[in-house]
Amino acid sequence: MRIVPTGQTLGARVEDLDLSRPLEADDFLALEQALGRYGVLSYPDQHLQSRQLRDFAARFGRLEINVANAYQEPGLPEVMILSNKKDSQGKPVGLSDAGQDWHTDMSYSRMIAFSNILYGIEIPMRDGQPLGNTEFCNMHAAYEALPEALRQELDGMTVTHDFAKFWDMMRQRNGTRPPLTEAQRQAKPPVSHPLFLTHPITGRKVLYANPGYAMRINELPEAKSQQILDFLFEHQLQPRFRHVHRWQPYDVLMWDNIGTIHNAVPDYRPDEPRFIKRCQVMADRYFANGTA
Ligand code: SIN
Repeated sequence: MRIVPTGQTLGARVEDLDLSRPLEADDFLALEQALGRYGVLSYPDQHLQSRQLRDFAARFGRLEINVANAYQEPGLPEVMILSNKKDSQGKPVGLSDAGQDWHTDMSYSRMIAFSNILYGIEIPMRDGQPLGNTEFCNMHAAYEALPEALRQELDGMTVTHDFAKFWDMMRQRNGTRPPLTEAQRQAKPPVSHPLFLTHPITGRKVLYANPGYAMRINELPEAKSQQILDFLFEHQLQPRFRHVHRWQPYDVLMWDNIGTIHNAVPDYRPDEPRFIKRCQVMADRYFANGTA
C-alpha cells in the first residue's frame, strides 16, 4: 500500500490496496493516521460488493443506519444509495440531494460522525470532465488561522447544532423534501458540541462549526453569536482551505468528518446519472463519553 499526498491542504491517494480483501492491522493503523493527517483519502479503481464496502467501513467504527429507513441496500441497511436515477416505475432509487451545501455529517447528533465512506459507481461526465465533485475545507487549518485573540475569547464555548436547519434549507431550495413531522423533530433534538474540538487522531484543535447545522454559540447573546458565526462560516470557506475531489468511476472516497466540512456540488442534470453507495462511520471509538 502507498499513501500519496496531493500536496494540497487536504487529500491523499491510497494506491495498491484492494478494499475487497480484509484489511491488515498495520494497514488499518496507517489509514487511520492518514485520515487524521490528510482529511480525505481516495482509493481508485475499487471493485466491491456492497458487503465488502460495509466490511471495510465497519473496521473504522460503528455504522449508522439512517433513520429515514429509505434507499438502503436490500439486506444491508448500513449501505445507503445516493443517486439521481429512477427505476422503471419512475421512483427514485436513492437520495438525490444528499449533502448539497456546506456541512459536517451528523454534527446534529449527540454521537458525532467520524468518517463518511462513499463508493462512486456511476459518475456524471460532460465533455470528458467529471461532474458532481465533492468539495472539502480543512478545519485544522481554519482553526489555526483564526486570530489568536478570537481563539482565546471563544475557547471553551459550545455550539447548538440542529438537524432541522439543513433540512428546512433544502426544502426551501428544491421543494422535494416533505416538512419534518413533530415526531421527527423530537427524535432529533438540537445538541451542543464544543466550538473547538480536539481531534482524536491528531491531538490538534479543529473548528467544529458548519453552516449546515450550527445555530448558536450558547455562551453569547443572540446577536453576537450570529455575528461570530457569520464570520466563522466565511472564514472556514476560504480558497486556501479547500480541496476538491473530482470523481472517477469506482473511486472509494473516505473523509474525516471531524477535521473537514464538505459540499456535494449539484452541477449535473437529471439525465446525467450519478450512483454512489455510502456508509457512515460514527465516532464512538473516540468519544465514548461525548464531545464535551
Ligand atoms: C454527503 O454529503 O453525504 C454526500 C456527498 C456526495 O454525494 O458527494
